[in-house]
Amino acid sequence: MIEVKSLSKSYGVFKAVDDLSFTVRAGQVLGFLGPNGAGKSTTMKMLTGFLTPTSGTALINGIDVVENSVLARKTIGYLPEGAPSYGEMTVQQFLGFVARARLIDKNSVAVSVDRAIEKLNLSDVKHQVIETLSKGFKRRVGLAQAIIHDPQILILDEPTDGLDPNQKREVRRLIRAMAKDKIIIISTHILEEVEAVCNRVMIIAEGRLLADDSPQALIMRSRYHNAVSLVVDAAEKVASILGELPQVARVELNEGELTLFPAGDGLFEAVTATISANQWQVSALRLEAGRLDEVFHTITSGGAAA
Ligand SMILES: Nc1ncnc2c1ncn2[C@@H]1O[C@H](COP(=O)(O)OP(=O)(O)OP(=O)(O)O)[C@@H](O)[C@H]1O
Ligand SMILES: [Mg+2]
Repeated sequence: MIEVKSLSKSYGVFKAVDDLSFTVRAGQVLGFLGPNGAGKSTTMKMLTGFLTPTSGTALINGIDVVENSVLARKTIGYLPEGAPSYGEMTVQQFLGFVARARLIDKNSVAVSVDRAIEKLNLSDVKHQVIETLSKGFKRRVGLAQAIIHDPQILILDEPTDGLDPNQKREVRRLIRAMAKDKIIIISTHILEEVEAVCNRVMIIAEGRLLADDSPQALIMRSRYHNAVSLVVDAAEKVASILGELPQVARVELNEGELTLFPAGDGLFEAVTATISANQWQVSALRLEAGRLDEVFHTITSGGAAA
């Protein structure tokens, strides 16, 4: 369990992290979302003992990260922002070095290194010097070192940044597979990633916690929740007819797409019935779950989403 207690970090008069408190339990995959400079990386650095808080602290399974940093770090795997490593080593040498630094038993070092290499699909480059690897492969090496000691807690700062689409999927699959009995905290700017891997989201801006909820609950705060969007010929005429339906509260036409906002239940059925009755040519039609980007924007630009 991680217990964060009034954690703050100031640089001079500037508060990068401002009085954060929250608890994370095993099985939770927590996503930090927030604009650039929100304090996500700073918070992660304090949780992993790389940065001393100005005030407050965090307990990792009851161990204080400020008072007992070395012990607290043992159960944590950490992928720092930008995935720094030792560029002059080969992948295998670096992972071996990390394994020994993690005090993995001498007889288990090779097995741990092989396991991490296999999990991150690094076998083809294991003898290559890290500084000659592409950005995505460097990130994969960073992920491999984070899981080398099979830690109970994983803190991953933008784990899929710079990965190709296949590797993004692969890393998300890996995170989901590891999630069951671990605590995983990731930061990301990719909203689909939050929906794909997280079961809890914290939206942070200017060092403060603005929302703490499940992705599904956040999406339901969107004004698009249960709206119906369609692409249709003669959109303006269609808009004025559909706008008369009692189930429609409001109509918007944006870049050729018509969106109908609900006034109570039954909107989708009413719209499809009207489309058939009028034999309109519809090339796309969907019931919206909600839009996380809109919720993110609303929350981080001052107003709380309804
Ligand atoms: N050593 C430092 N001295 C002064 N200000 C700093 C220092 N380190 C970080 N900051 C500031 O603290 C704020 C939070 O930075 P942080 O890296 O935590 O943001 P972030 O949420 O991770 O952003 P991003 O999404 O861009 O990674 C920023 O305004 C940053 O400029
Ligand atoms: Mg960051």
